Amino acid sequence: MPTRSARPSRPRPPDRPTSTYELTFLPGLADIVQSEVADALGPRTPVLLLPGREDSMLVRHGGRPDALRALRTVVAVSQVLSFPVPRPRSLSSGEYFPAIVDAVQRSARLDGARAFRFEAAGSDSLVFQRLGTQLAHATGLRQEHDHSEDAGAVVLRFRRTPQLDAAGPRPDGWDVLVRLGSRPSSARDWRVADYPGAVNATIAAAIVRLAGIRAEDRVVNLMCGSGTLLVERLLAGPAASAVGVDVSPEAIAAATANVAAAGLAADVELVRADIADETWWPTVPADLVLADPPWGTLTGSHATNEAAHQEVLRVAHAITRPGAQLAVLTHEVTIMDRVLRGTALWRERAEVRVFQKGHHPRVYLLRRAD
Ligand SMILES: C[S@@+](CC[C@H](N)C(=O)[O-])C[C@H]1O[C@@H](n2cnc3c(N)ncnc32)[C@H](O)[C@@H]1O
Repeated sequence: MPTRSARPSRPRPPDRPTSTYELTFLPGLADIVQSEVADALGPRTPVLLLPGREDSMLVRHGGRPDALRALRTVVAVSQVLSFPVPRPRSLSSGEYFPAIVDAVQRSARLDGARAFRFEAAGSDSLVFQRLGTQLAHATGLRQEHDHSEDAGAVVLRFRRTPQLDAAGPRPDGWDVLVRLGSRPSSARDWRVADYPGAVNATIAAAIVRLAGIRAEDRVVNLMCGSGTLLVERLLAGPAASAVGVDVSPEAIAAATANVAAAGLAADVELVRADIADETWWPTVPADLVLADPPWGTLTGSHATNEAAHQEVLRVAHAITRPGAQLAVLTHEVTIMDRVLRGTALWRERAEVRVFQKGHHPRVYLLRRAD
């Protein structure tokens, strides 16, 4: 009887070595960050939320870290090196130190950093001083003691390895986290003009994802300020058109500079006008309106902010097609809730609370009610 020989199985290519990275982000944005990670790195990318932490997650990723650095909703990406050592002093041993040097050099090469700095409790202790001297010698980088982001340095953090599962005690260890690049991911190259009250770029990127990125969308940014929402929308994907409107000449000047620095000057129309002034209203209705109305006393006053929020809802309704979406970022939550209760123009689809350095802005995603 003929015997069928088993087809020789093809040798599997060796798995690409994976590294662990920590993504930090603004509390409240975890779901949106996770969806961006799945889109950018694949839906099966292992992601682990750190217990008790609302601002970070761990991701396993093989290959080059560029895709991680390109994530727009994260504040910073760090490679995580875990060492089975009882105390930081042992990190300088020949067994572990070369891995730290390698990670720091790779990070520095990403954007030509010339310096590193430590962010650690007790980083001025003798142990960290010695580690710093050793690292400077091995990498050829300068140790920076200026903690401002403008100093531009590879940042190293140190912490006890977190216990991540209930599978029992794990050996004590220390993690060294080496941030990728000398500036956080949230610092955008396109932001050449600052503006009071400009929205954090990772929040803007999150709003844009929440609303959905469709190439056929006509997008309008009411009260656009320095153009953060418009720029992040267009960097996330093309749109049929993009218009930004602000009453302030300083805002339009800042938006013009930022849009140009992002390479989007040909794709964006910026108009200096009061949003209520019908002469600028588009002749073809918009599909998506983004708005970040004045808040607090920095860019408005409580007395006028309620009227500004009402005006955003009214004008957005007037310039959109039925079924259109409106995404509003506001710090004036009480005002926005009251204004929403009093309107029949828009229906709420989603609400995201964000925590940012003592501020608690909220994103409202609305759909036209008709
Ligand atoms: C919080 S800031 C927007 C910041 C912007 N998202 C950014 O990232 O730079 C609010 C803006 O609303 C503008 N504004 C206030 N009332 C307006 C109105 N009635 N029409 C047009 N713009 C208005 C202000 O000039 C200000 O630039």
